[in-house]
Amino acid sequence: MKTHSIALIPGDGIGRDVTAAAWTVLETVAKHSGFALTGTELPWSCRFFKETGRMMPEDGIETLRRFDAILLGAVGWPTEVPDSVSLHGLLLPIRKAFVQYANIRPHRLLPGVRGPLRAESFDILCIRENTEGEYSGAGGRVHQGTLDEVAVETSIFTRAGVERILRFGFEQARARRGRLASITKSNAQKYSMVFWDEITRKLAADYPDVDVTSYHVDALAARMIMDPQSLDVVVASNLFGDILTDIGAAIQGGLGYAASANINPDRSAPSMFEPVHGSAPDIAHLGIANPIAAIWSGAMMLEHLGEKDAAGRVMNAIEATTARGVGTTAGKDRTDAITSAVVAALT
Ligand code: IPM
Ligand code: MN
Repeated sequence: MKTHSIALIPGDGIGRDVTAAAWTVLETVAKHSGFALTGTELPWSCRFFKETGRMMPEDGIETLRRFDAILLGAVGWPTEVPDSVSLHGLLLPIRKAFVQYANIRPHRLLPGVRGPLRAESFDILCIRENTEGEYSGAGGRVHQGTLDEVAVETSIFTRAGVERILRFGFEQARARRGRLASITKSNAQKYSMVFWDEITRKLAADYPDVDVTSYHVDALAARMIMDPQSLDVVVASNLFGDILTDIGAAIQGGLGYAASANINPDRSAPSMFEPVHGSAPDIAHLGIANPIAAIWSGAMMLEHLGEKDAAGRVMNAIEATTARGVGTTAGKDRTDAITSAVVAALT
């Protein structure tokens, strides 16, 4: 029997609850579908940091490299460990080390879920550059703590990095409704963003079947709210993509529904799957976190692993669950109840 070995990093807060929920669903669908999943839980988290002084062991990346995929809950416990330490010690280095350059985030309304907009029939796929740009980590502070202090943080855009994410976006658009929105702020940022626009135009010649439009990020933010049906695939830099996908989550009813996949398209290292939401310390361990975003991320993992049939079954089960009104109202259904409903809907 085909076996996929998965590294489970529940992380902090509700990350633990939703990873457990997703894993229950994934193990069940594997049984129905004739393949096996082995899960190895890694306790890397802010608690681990408090115990060891590190978010993951020194050889953490090498440990992860042996797995077929990584399922992650959420990282962060800001009252105990500054976010700038916890995220740069675990989540962000994994995205970079494993060249997971495409962060894919689908935004559409599940049946039975009411979003805040009048528009109901949108289906947007955000593709966020995930390894460079504004998240490059290049910078520093001098004269710290004095009135002369200076902080510099430089965005880094490389031709290779921009080309590969745009190509990925063009390919996704080609496989969907043929429309690509390429996002910059080239009216204000005249080097990196003009560079991005130029590469968009250059690649467009290779994809005559794709209808590509360049938008400024502020205009696109408004369009996601005013006219989301007009959008198909959206491709953006790391920070712009981060912000736009929180809008995406909001218009799909909330962060409890927003799934994501950090993909290494070349498959030279494992990809990582995680809900867009954070660790939500305020509701951690109350058992009320919505696991749908994590379960949906698990479906994206199955798809990546080549288990398309099982991925489809999980999506159908999620949709059958929300169509019945389970998991559609914040705080109404407990994590376990939503998980059981999804498991029961698996066929
Ligand atoms: C996300 C998160 C992360 C990001 C944070 C936690 C560093 O907001 O995955 O969207 O900005 O990438
Ligand atoms: Mn974010």
